[in-house]
Amino acid sequence: MDNSIIPNHVGIIMDGNGRWANTRGLPRVEGHRQGVRRSKDVIKASVDIGIKILTLYAFSIENWRRPQNEVVTLMDLFDFYLKTEIEDLMSKDIVFKVIGNREKLPKGIQFLIRNAETLTSNNRGMVLALAVSYGGRDEIIRTVRKLSSSGVDLSTLDESVFEANLDTKDMLPVDLIIRTGGEKRISNFLIWQSAYAELYFTDTLWPDFTQEEFYSAIHNYKQRERRFGAIPQKVTL
Ligand code: IPE
Ligand code: IPE
Ligand code: MG
Repeated sequence: MDNSIIPNHVGIIMDGNGRWANTRGLPRVEGHRQGVRRSKDVIKASVDIGIKILTLYAFSIENWRRPQNEVVTLMDLFDFYLKTEIEDLMSKDIVFKVIGNREKLPKGIQFLIRNAETLTSNNRGMVLALAVSYGGRDEIIRTVRKLSSSGVDLSTLDESVFEANLDTKDMLPVDLIIRTGGEKRISNFLIWQSAYAELYFTDTLWPDFTQEEFYSAIHNYKQRERRFGAIPQKVTL
């Protein structure tokens, strides 16, 4: 792939696991398990084409409202991932981060996250950010509270100081957001950061999302003209 204008930062709303399982008469957890496999494929594809930051929306702050057994299953999968994938992250030189409201997560998982972040912090390759217990509105409110309690004068607050205190601080702006599973909404994902992101929606359910389809989304992004409110850069006679 021609790497000239590939997105620096791609975010993915990995939706459709439950429906994938339902149509096969399987429990929803099987959809989530298959979904983890697809995440690994997309992580590998992203590293291969030189994406700098990949943010995967794994569990929203609203997903805490799901039935207890599904929440527990998802936490177990997350726990297992954090225990078993470090070696792979290290071999791919990936810097691992979690964005979201960590305090709501079980203590054991909070510990595993800190551990994974520390172990991978000196890596130099792609940043993999997992959005877990994440909500854009919650992130904005937490940021305002943090700024206020650290004594920042909110009457002179500007966008750059605000951004430097979001969970995504130190990350390049998100260029492309992909949503699988057919819904055309953002569902509280990176709402501040996505102001000028390109959006790509596909009906493919996340457990069916292949590396080829990921490459097609990147290819589609390359055809877009990003104007950021300015005038198109065409030659006028
Ligand atoms: C996305 O799949 C994964 C999470 C939200 C944790 P869903 O579980 O939302 O699957 P559908 O949308 O019900 O098919
Ligand atoms: C968005 O999917 C959250 C994740 C993919 C983690 P949801 O399934 O929770 O979103 P809604 O409820 O359809 O908007
Ligand atoms: Mg869903």
